[in-house]
Amino acid sequence: MTPLKLLNFQHILTLSVFTGAANGYYFHTWMECIYSSPDLSDMEFIEGLYFNKYPVIKFNSTVGMFEGFSDLGIKTAEMWNNDTAFLQQTMAKVDTYCKPNAEAYEGAIHRKKERPTVKLSSVMPGDGTHPALVKCSAYDFYPQPIKVYWLKDGVPVTSDVTSTEELPNGDWYYQIHTVLEYTPKSAEKISCVVEHASFTRPMIYDWTPPAPEFEWDIQLLFTIESAALLLGIIIATAGFIYFKIKTSRL
Ligand SMILES: *[C@@H]1O[C@H](CO)[C@@H](O)[C@H](O)[C@H]1NC(C)=O
Ligand SMILES: *[C@@H]1O[C@H](CO)[C@@H](O)[C@H](O)[C@H]1NC(C)=O
Repeated sequence: MTPLKLLNFQHILTLSVFTGAANGYYFHTWMECIYSSPDLSDMEFIEGLYFNKYPVIKFNSTVGMFEGFSDLGIKTAEMWNNDTAFLQQTMAKVDTYCKPNAEAYEGAIHRKKERPTVKLSSVMPGDGTHPALVKCSAYDFYPQPIKVYWLKDGVPVTSDVTSTEELPNGDWYYQIHTVLEYTPKSAEKISCVVEHASFTRPMIYDWTPPAPEFEWDIQLLFTIESAALLLGIIIATAGFIYFKIKTSRL
């Protein structure tokens, strides 16, 4: 039995032999389980053995054989490939190592449910000529399936709605956005409804349109200025009268 085989049997992941304070020989091995099919049927087991970062031997379960890289690696691979029992044992890691770990991992993710953070915002306030646009955004939810729709006075809205897909954030979570186009009417209630596995019931978020922005116009400025001027005149007059009274008493 070669030292390499011994190391592999012992499942040592990293071994370093220090020859001094700064120098050392590093042997490491990594195992990889690659799959894309949800039923794990395309599971591939890869094992790599490295010495001082250089590949020595690689096992690929799709090929079903060891491949050597260095002189030692090529010789060792030949020997291991000749050992049917060892080859089968390595091959079996698809079922004994990869699949159980993948199942546990997938299960943990699928059991996880994360509630969306829902935000309503105005895209366009709308005026006499243009309709208003209001956006309902759900952020950071998991799993992916979600239903986001609008209610107008409690009745689901089917037209004038533009929605995105569930967009992956890239961190397991998703976000979705839907925009409703509507003509604001007084006393009309607009709500966004979110249905998701993390909620026990549909969640309703009511839209409160932002108060119209206060606009300074020339007319208003003129009025304020006139008022200020008038106030000034009054204060000046009062001051003058007060002065007159004081001086007349002297
Ligand atoms: C394993 O071998 C198969 C068949 O040659 C190949 O398609 C695949 O890319 C290899 N996997 C890796 C990780 O090298
Ligand atoms: C592979 O096995 C055959 C038959 O058992 C043997 O003759 C040959 O020397 C072996 N090769 C290596 C590299 O061990």
